[in-house]
Amino acid sequence: MSYDLVVIGTGPGGYVCAIRAAQLGLRTAVVEKRATHGGTCLNVGCIPSKALLHASEAFEEANKHFADLGIDVGTPKLDLKKMMAFKDEGVAGNTKGVEFLLKKNKVETFHGTGRIAGAGRVEVVSEDGGNQMLETKSIVIATGSDVTRLPGVTIDEKVVVSSTGALELDRVPKKLLVIGAGVIGLELGSVWRRLGAEVTVVEYLDRVLPGMDGEVGKQFQRILTKQGIAFKLSTKVTGVEVGKKGGASVTVEPAAGGGAAETLQADVVLVAIGRVPYTESLGLDTVGVQRDDKGRILTDAHYATNVTGIYAIGDVIAGPMLAHKAEDEGVAIAEMLAGQSGHVNYGVIPNVVYTFPEVASVGKTEEELKKDGIAYNAGKFPFTANGRAKANGTTDGFVKVLADAQTDRVLGVHIVGADAGNLIAEVAVAMEFGASSEDIARTCHAHPTLTEAVKEAALAVNKRAIHV
Ligand code: FAD
Ligand code: NAI
Repeated sequence: MSYDLVVIGTGPGGYVCAIRAAQLGLRTAVVEKRATHGGTCLNVGCIPSKALLHASEAFEEANKHFADLGIDVGTPKLDLKKMMAFKDEGVAGNTKGVEFLLKKNKVETFHGTGRIAGAGRVEVVSEDGGNQMLETKSIVIATGSDVTRLPGVTIDEKVVVSSTGALELDRVPKKLLVIGAGVIGLELGSVWRRLGAEVTVVEYLDRVLPGMDGEVGKQFQRILTKQGIAFKLSTKVTGVEVGKKGGASVTVEPAAGGGAAETLQADVVLVAIGRVPYTESLGLDTVGVQRDDKGRILTDAHYATNVTGIYAIGDVIAGPMLAHKAEDEGVAIAEMLAGQSGHVNYGVIPNVVYTFPEVASVGKTEEELKKDGIAYNAGKFPFTANGRAKANGTTDGFVKVLADAQTDRVLGVHIVGADAGNLIAEVAVAMEFGASSEDIARTCHAHPTLTEAVKEAALAVNKRAIHV
């Protein structure tokens, strides 16, 4: 069987790459070892977590906020089994959608583990042990990432869980201990807190969401604390012991050392300390594909590895581990292989945390600008001063626009607030077009919408905000 392109892995990077390549006339096949397409994102990542975030938010609304709106529904009861079925339906709808799209675009699917037998040759080993050899001009590796393990801690997906287990719990834990105040810890911590768990987050660093703007992190932590999540920052976990009757004892001590150790009890422990590139069974060492010290496949600006004809995209290479980054790389490499000029602008990749309120960011943080010695002006606008946020009773958070002090070009925007994930899109478009803060400020924004807070923050860059 001979192809122009064989893509290994059908997560957001791989399946999008295959569809774009097929659209451009390349004879394309995909190899996927899971029974369903969509990778981490659709099966055990973005989609199931967002379904549970949506459902648990509705539960919390009904539980705590409906009465304020004059709606009396009594005390809502949780049917966790049904909520999980709702989540599973969302996953199935999405994975079947990808299967349909691959077929529609005449991409051939091979189910099994792909191993690169040499440049231009991919062996597919199916679960029953059968194997097939595919000949191809180009290979794109899109095998994604896996959970980072904590040394000495076994993830059994029952008491000590990764995100995958935390999306499948069959009862609400009384106490949930989350290791890592990153995006998974705070999203899934929020889900289980809303459903009734007592949640404590232990974080090694002295802040939540490292990498995001510092002011955003501080405000966000305050909001989550108000909602009932407890934080133990600058703290390291030194051991997790699962009890004979279930539950676990987690030993922690100050990250800097020197302080007293403490033991925390939990029914479930979620390990969410990051993800690592996944390259198992690919045969990279045999073909000589180079990786960096973090295990990421090394590529040049055109996604080419050091071996001719072998490319890599998505979580398995450097850059943010985000579905939309993987997708855009998938499109870019497909276009390059078809003789076009694919391109990804790494300066404008939005990053969203889908809690309530949401956190969204694009471009440089204040910390990065300071470190790079770039002079900037900051404009900030709180949602307490936005008409729609007031009317909706969702006034937590702010929008911050950072613009170059000389040129006024927008360098970064950071939002904590309801619907921040959607609000960031206009800014991403503006930044792609090289907009100044004045461009955003002079654009008419509909009233009453939360988007007016973006406009006001842009006005605030030059101290011209109207409503504060
Ligand atoms: P993956 O999606 O990991 O897909 C890789 C595929 O390759 C898998 O299907 C795997 O089975 C297959 N594979 C691996 N090795 C082989 C082999 N040898 N042969 C055949 N097949 C193979 N990102 C966001 O942007 N937004 C979110 O809201 C979001 N939420 C997340 C929530 C959670 C709980 C997690 C864990 C992640 C989340 N992410 C989110 C991150 C997102 O899932 C990843 O960035 C994205 O899936 C990466 O896509 P990918 O195509 O590189 O790899
Ligand atoms: P993360 O990198 O976001 O956060 C991990 C956190 O764990 C960090 O705060 C880190 O300082 C901390 N940590 C590391 N080692 C520790 C230790 N030993 N003890 C205590 N804390 C420790 O990783 P996370 O949350 O696991 O997510 C993995 C990836 O999945 C992210 O890179 C993200 O890109 C992606 N993702 C994206 C989502 C989104 O876009 N909404 C949602 C979920 C995941």
